[in-house]
Amino acid sequence: MIILFLYGEYNIISGYDNYTLFYLLIRGYIRRGIILIYFRHVSIPWEVCRMKIRLEHLTKRFPNRNKKIKEDVIAVSDFTFEIPDGQLIGLLGPSGCGKSTALNLICGLETPTEGKIFFDEEDVTELPPEKRGVGMVFQSYALYPHLTVRKNIMFPLQNLKGDQKLTKEQMEEKVLEAAKTVQIEELLDRRPNEMSGGQQQRVAIARALVKVPRVLLLDEPLSNLDARLRIQTREEIRRIQTATKVTTIFVTHDQEEAMSISDMIVVMKDGVVHQIGKPQDVYDDPVDLFVAKFLGTPPINVLEGEIKDGRLIAGNDTLLSIKSSENRKVYIGIRPEGFIPEKDGPMKCTMKAVEVMGRDTSVVSEHEASVDNTPLRSIVSADLGIDPKAEEIRYRLNPRKVLIFDYESGERIRVEAEA
Ligand SMILES: Nc1ncnc2c1ncn2[C@@H]1O[C@H](COP(=O)(O)OP(=O)(O)OP(=O)(O)O)[C@@H](O)[C@H]1O
Ligand SMILES: [Mg+2]
Repeated sequence: MIILFLYGEYNIISGYDNYTLFYLLIRGYIRRGIILIYFRHVSIPWEVCRMKIRLEHLTKRFPNRNKKIKEDVIAVSDFTFEIPDGQLIGLLGPSGCGKSTALNLICGLETPTEGKIFFDEEDVTELPPEKRGVGMVFQSYALYPHLTVRKNIMFPLQNLKGDQKLTKEQMEEKVLEAAKTVQIEELLDRRPNEMSGGQQQRVAIARALVKVPRVLLLDEPLSNLDARLRIQTREEIRRIQTATKVTTIFVTHDQEEAMSISDMIVVMKDGVVHQIGKPQDVYDDPVDLFVAKFLGTPPINVLEGEIKDGRLIAGNDTLLSIKSSENRKVYIGIRPEGFIPEKDGPMKCTMKAVEVMGRDTSVVSEHEASVDNTPLRSIVSADLGIDPKAEEIRYRLNPRKVLIFDYESGERIRVEAEA
């Protein structure tokens, strides 16, 4: 008997795989002849290549085109962060805060003015984009207008080398799989200008997913999808990310979207990172008023107030007792779920409306100390049967849902408080 070891995937000649062949051999079903054992070069496939990303003092300045203003635009300022491998990071912040610039620096389309970028221990700061192994969905989709959807999605697969090179059939199969993921398999023969914005966006997502990259960067990938498709697609992105463990950065200015799928979120403003942490931790424990206001729907209610003689005061009401001897002016943030309606509660508000939301109701009221006279919004159980016709509603506050901030800097003041 001769046993030949060959390179390949399956035992194509016999039609059996190696396990079946061994089984037949051991059980004595094969006594004579040549046995071909195909083995495959074992390398770690892309799919399990986890990649840690380290940003060190990353700064990007653009020259200001307005000649009257001398200072540069600082799009990203001193961004230092280590993204653990295999995680999905939500990058959040208002328009113009530097989210896209941060992604462009990581994928190599922009070079930093200062600072370094590492993928694991490799310094990629000077590496051109095509050598970084990054899959990116651009905010503007960046599809090739002269290519069909099929060719657009296939594009990243066509230049694979060596071990990773695919046959035409394998490419077609992967394209179809990626197209199905984002529900555009019917559109494969169209060109980008024959599709809606949301459809083009889905083609861009499919193109980034088709070759599982070392790092996946998604710049507002869902902004043009309707509500249902948006939730479906974000869950699909999360599923694929969890399965492949590819380190992913997901840019959005929709805080709910970021909170629902991210392992960690990064909150930015004016190029500066304000806070990094697990979504729930950042929501519960924001470092400043900006972060507190940015997270949460309905948003946190903000009042002007003061800490005086161990009491937290807003207008004429003493909201909580405070363990602090220092008297100071403050901003008071109250999360909508922190209001407990109570007949003799210390916080007196004027009733405006009750909005039914099913299980909960949203009570809209006014308070004299509310910043810019913005109505307060509380979320309370529908079972309480709040009377919308009442003139006044009084609340007791859950101290854990009341956050206090410095009046000048907006920084969080951490003091013990009780009702
Ligand atoms: N090439 C450039 N030249 C000059 N300024 C630029 C350039 N690119 C970006 N900027 C400026 O840098 C800042 C950050 O821009 P960036 O596109 O990163 O914001 P963003 O957070 O992605 O905003 P959006 O949510 O609107 O997409 C902005 O003030 C922008 O005007
Ligand atoms: Mg952007």
